Amino acid sequence: MDYKQLAKTYETPLYIYDFNQIKKRYLELKNSFAGRKSLVCYAVKANSNLSLLKLLANLGSGFDCVSFNEVRRAILAGADRYKIIYSGVGKQDSEIKDAINANILMINVESSAELDRIEEIAKSLDKIARISIRVNPNIDPKTHPYISTGLNENKFGVNINEAKKMYIKAKNSQFLNPIGIHFHIGSQLIDIMPVHEAAQIVSNLMRELKALEIDIKFFDIGGGVGIRYKDEKNVDLYEYAQGILSALKGQDETIVCEPGRFIVGESGVLLTKVLYEKVNNDKRFVVVDGAMNDLLRPSLYGAYHEIEALADGLNLSKCDIVGPICESGDFLGKDRDMPELKSGDLLVVKCAGAYGFGMASNYNSRCKAAEVAIEDGKARLIRKREKFEDLVANEIEFIGE
Ligand code: LLP
Repeated sequence: MDYKQLAKTYETPLYIYDFNQIKKRYLELKNSFAGRKSLVCYAVKANSNLSLLKLLANLGSGFDCVSFNEVRRAILAGADRYKIIYSGVGKQDSEIKDAINANILMINVESSAELDRIEEIAKSLDKIARISIRVNPNIDPKTHPYISTGLNENKFGVNINEAKKMYIKAKNSQFLNPIGIHFHIGSQLIDIMPVHEAAQIVSNLMRELKALEIDIKFFDIGGGVGIRYKDEKNVDLYEYAQGILSALKGQDETIVCEPGRFIVGESGVLLTKVLYEKVNNDKRFVVVDGAMNDLLRPSLYGAYHEIEALADGLNLSKCDIVGPICESGDFLGKDRDMPELKSGDLLVVKCAGAYGFGMASNYNSRCKAAEVAIEDGKARLIRKREKFEDLVANEIEFIGE
């Protein structure tokens, strides 16, 4: 990839996505469930760029959304409505109403109070809401605590007993149709055994529900498949899929999965430019034009992203790679070996396709970066760089005399 040319054309900081690799990742996952009814619902939160959603929609992907605006993005990108799932622990009434009216595949319910609310809203619309219930199997996913979701201490889903009561209630309601069962225990999972254990628990529950004539059609195993940021081992998709199939023991529901990071994570980079080098006492800093507002993961989770310098300098030495934001937590990498760098040299921050642009903010009144897609060797802009006018657009009319 000609990063220098891309930097020249589109400026930096710049997100660059390899659409061919995204396609490949989608197909790999889809094919791992070959021979079974399956639906890959890409988790829009990982990267919600419309062109990227359109690429996946064209391949037949479904979408897992966590706000009604994400549902709207998916629809705008050409998704089939019957492949859209709407999850999330705090849906607003208006969002529930819009989701029922939009006739999507199902709403994923996270509490018994929410089930009541969905029933009331469906009744007021005189419609039937298709639902699934998010079960919390109380399994430790062995990942970063901020992205672990399947333990009793986490806010997500309901326990098995509560889920059973909710399914019975839904079955007896004229306005609810329970068609799915769901779990998601965490993100960036490298060891997939916990997913298989969770699948086992939820599959047993599904069998019990069937005995009560609650006819579940979709077995949703969530997302979470991890990627290689540094030296993690690659998840074996065959093993992943086989473990799920064996947990199902012959039950033949459609398997739904909700990958985000696996599809887009390794397919994206953040390209940033060196502004200055500085040394404070003995400590070397490389100040770049990308910052925590562009890529929050290092600051928020201490996440590691490999950083490659496109510079010929020798003399490697340790440095912190930091952005221009007025926070000590504003760094993209710490203690990295880098050659001598000069203003204008480019750095490539790897594995930034997932939860990169999507978590970007305007902190310090910084404009969000542009996004570019590379497909079949050609680059195209898929989101313009923000301008000052975009930052103030919603405020300008309120300035007093
Ligand atoms: N399904 C549900 C219900 C989820 O909550 C998530 C992610 C996914 C699917 C997709 O998970 P994935 O396949 O991408 O692991 N900002 C964090 C990650 C937060 C994940 C939230 N939920 C990060 O940068 O690591």
